[in-house]
Amino acid sequence: MPLKSLLTRWLMSNPNPQSEPSPKNPLLDRMKERVEKSGKYYWGQTWKGIDVLPDGKPVLDPSRGEDYGSFWGDVAKTREGALMVTRQMIIDEETDTFISEDVADMIHRVLHLTPDSRVLEVGSGTGSLAVSIAPKVKSYALADISASMLEHARKRLEGIAGTSFHHLARCDLREFPDNHFDGVLFEAVMGHMDREDSYRYMLETYRVLKPGGRAYFQFFNLLHPQGFAEFEHTVEKHCDGRGRNLISRTRFHTPVEARSYVTHAGFLIDEECSQLSDLPGETLLHINEHALVAVCRKPQEGHR
Ligand SMILES: C[S@@+](CC[C@H](N)C(=O)[O-])C[C@H]1O[C@@H](n2cnc3c(N)ncnc32)[C@H](O)[C@@H]1O
Repeated sequence: MPLKSLLTRWLMSNPNPQSEPSPKNPLLDRMKERVEKSGKYYWGQTWKGIDVLPDGKPVLDPSRGEDYGSFWGDVAKTREGALMVTRQMIIDEETDTFISEDVADMIHRVLHLTPDSRVLEVGSGTGSLAVSIAPKVKSYALADISASMLEHARKRLEGIAGTSFHHLARCDLREFPDNHFDGVLFEAVMGHMDREDSYRYMLETYRVLKPGGRAYFQFFNLLHPQGFAEFEHTVEKHCDGRGRNLISRTRFHTPVEARSYVTHAGFLIDEECSQLSDLPGETLLHINEHALVAVCRKPQEGHR
């Protein structure tokens, strides 16, 4: 069976596995319904940049900070600012949860999570995904470079058992032991840091995963027309031509690059659960057409 059909069938969480898969993207279809219902959401539909945050300062204001922690700490000083930079416009947490659920369900499936799973999310933001996944697993560690993001998440996840919160001082996972987690995920995070740092995180992810554990890495596809349009916007708005570029600006990868990083880090790519072609067809794994998704497995045996 072609990869596309397998993927569609697998993603549909169809109660009857014998029935024919939809030729369309089931996530996107559901998202469209949700957009119409909520009336205030566009993530994954059309893209626009954010200029000014609720604190009255442009996102690009140099005073926000020149390192990851200070930048993301500053934009997340207010809850609205935090939601705005994670979902590109101000929305309330309920709507955020509602619209993030499909991505959360997809990640839950591709990571093969069960009620016994120990999960780590890096760059967990305001907890948009955690709020849906954490109740279904044994433990869920939220880690972020921004202390203020973690504070918003802590309040949002109050009362959900098994959650823990970890402020990362730098791009590594040194506070977590070797061979500990069943699943590690990075959604909308690796595209906001330099490649050297995202590669460092991949090596660390390999270390903290149990043998056979699964990782989810999401990037943005430079080769997709929308990816390239966003890249051009970044060049114009977030780079000053003198090398003092916005620290959190979006970085774009090609599928070949994404594959190269994860395989050099030691992972095996699960092709059926990944979206790593130059131009994904109509069957998509992610809400965003220009998302690259590498779902990987740490081999049972051996070391990198
Ligand atoms: C666009 S948001 C995505 C949040 C969340 N993953 C989601 O999908 O809702 C990016 C998040 O990554 C965090 N982040 C940015 N750079 C990071 C880094 N180098 N290490 C860890 N977290 C980082 C930010 O603080 C922010 O919470």
